[in-house]
Amino acid sequence: MIIGNWKMNTLRADALALANAVVGMDRLNSTRIGICSPALWIDPITQIVKHSSILVGAQDCVGDNFGAQTGCINADMVRDAGCSMVILGHSERRARFGESTDKLLNTIAAVLETGMFPVVCVGETKKQRESGKAFDVVAEQLKPLLTAGLDLGGIVIAYEPVWAIGTGLSATRKDIEEMHATVREVINRNDTVVLYGGSVSPESADDVFNAEGVSGALVGGASLNVDKFAAIVAAWERK
Ligand code: 13P
Repeated sequence: MIIGNWKMNTLRADALALANAVVGMDRLNSTRIGICSPALWIDPITQIVKHSSILVGAQDCVGDNFGAQTGCINADMVRDAGCSMVILGHSERRARFGESTDKLLNTIAAVLETGMFPVVCVGETKKQRESGKAFDVVAEQLKPLLTAGLDLGGIVIAYEPVWAIGTGLSATRKDIEEMHATVREVINRNDTVVLYGGSVSPESADDVFNAEGVSGALVGGASLNVDKFAAIVAAWERK
């Protein structure tokens, strides 16, 4: 599965053009492709992809019921707009809004309840890796999932080392293999879909995808460029 996380990018016309181009990739490939656009473009994008197998997702939502929460969008609304997934706990949100897996449990449960799948992001900072704490940090980020009575089979995990995001420095094959094995060990499931994210590009994709235990990628910057995104999908296809 290759998911594009467009983050806070695209005006409407760019978003629709990009979505149309992604639909073109779908016809040529058997890979599961997903688009997580800004929330404003989800509705028109679901119209564009409706005759394809492209999945549409949100980059965040809240887990609460309808109510007085100015500016928030809940899981039911995201589902109703036609999404099949929601990215939760991205490091950019953990850093900016103080999100943690603990605080997200309610949202993860709400997303699962609607039948969508959450893509829960975990990953260590450069400082944490350099001080040898990467595995502990990721394990701590995962552990709350184990005690919350969630259907772990419905959760996708994305390992996104913070130091690799947007830096052009993708993690090495060894880093990825070790961490993906750790993720599956901590959540005690071999069948979990574990994506890698962090500077996945046409140049790094073959290395990333050849790492054992990688189920696909969560792609930021390169997903905004049709040719780069297509090249990443092609790299997955030839894996
Ligand atoms: P980049 O691919 O731009 O490094 O971003 C990765 C990411 O954060 C995807 O969620």
